[in-house]
Amino acid sequence: MLKSPAVEWLPSILAADPLDLRNAVEKVVRSGIKQIHLDIMDGHFVPNISFGPQFAENVHGTYPSLFLDVHLMLTRPDDFIDPFLEAGAGRIVLHAELSKRIVTRSLKQLRNAACLTGLAINPATNVDVLFPYLENWAIDRVLIMSVHPGFSGQEFITSVLPKVKMLKMRYPDITLCMDGGINSETATQGFAYGARSFVVGASFFQGQLAQETYA
Ligand code: DX5
Ligand code: ZN
Repeated sequence: MLKSPAVEWLPSILAADPLDLRNAVEKVVRSGIKQIHLDIMDGHFVPNISFGPQFAENVHGTYPSLFLDVHLMLTRPDDFIDPFLEAGAGRIVLHAELSKRIVTRSLKQLRNAACLTGLAINPATNVDVLFPYLENWAIDRVLIMSVHPGFSGQEFITSVLPKVKMLKMRYPDITLCMDGGINSETATQGFAYGARSFVVGASFFQGQLAQETYA
């Protein structure tokens, strides 16, 4: 069932060897997967720093057909939406834990740019925070974090699975994506609860995810 065309895989470049990013992007292109997940971190919202818009622009400039799925783990996503749009982002996902003012301001920017938009929630965040946004804005997907964001290679947190089911029942048309600790086994669990999109970091770049799963 994971091989179903209805299942989407998003390789997270954060998990690649930082000294060999070109090869990592090429691995995604060769795999036949048409999207790449860029984890953008500011050292405030999460305890790590990663890439900026320049990196997105370089990936987009070199591989223009690769769709950029940009996951903003930033305290001020609104400051970086325009630079990532200019860099070629295809979808921008921001966190629902931020203040209503900042989330709303960011959603407006994305709506004005007609950019695909996602909202993410951390393992400790209740699904309720999403409801007002899902009901009032054109949100393409929800990213259910299955690790505490900040680092690749962490263990999947099973207790987030009921949130996937709750969202699936309430919003059957919204794509549910799981991010963190995904491999064939945890994706199978997520699939059973209603997720159809999976970010794969360590399992994709470090080889544990069998190629037959996504090829
Ligand atoms: C975590 C990031 C994830 C992460 C996934 O902060 O949002 O996208 O890189 O990596 P794995 O699959 O290794 O947990
Ligand atoms: Zn991510």
